[in-house]
Amino acid sequence: MSVVKINVLTVPAEQREVLEKRFASRAHAVESSDGFEWFELLRPVDGTDNYLVYTRWRDEESFQAWMEGPMKAAHQGTGEGGERGEGGERPRPAASGSALWSFEVVQQAAPKGA
Ligand code: HEM
Repeated sequence: MSVVKINVLTVPAEQREVLEKRFASRAHAVESSDGFEWFELLRPVDGTDNYLVYTRWRDEESFQAWMEGPMKAAHQGTGEGGERGEGGERPRPAASGSALWSFEVVQQAAPKGA
């Protein structure tokens, strides 16, 4: 069964638009990564400041391979969790914090006929 990896981003209200714009111009590299199954950016509507970056993978190895390679290139613009470029051109990170949640899919369902 697949694995689900959710990156939980803490995003202050005034940074929401910045974050969503960054995702709107994201690398689109994850789609071509081996074992990638699904991605969703989830905006909080319940009063929290946690955006969820939901990803699902065929297996742990596929996720690790993405993390070690394409993930780094896809995150060049965020300025967080990576090395900071000279000259300060890199934009400030929109997120003030992050945490990675890991799950195994135990059961799943889709609508009949889908
Ligand atoms: C240091 C923590 C992290 C921060 C602050 C962060 C933030 C961001 C931001 C702002 C983007 C939009 C593109 C950009 O501006 O670079 C992005 C892309 C993305 N992030 Fe993260 N991220 C982090 C770590 C992770 C982790 C651990 C995962 C694993 C679930 C993840 C999953 C993704 C995916 C799938 C994309 C789209 C990449 C693509 O289009 O190829 N992120 N992230």
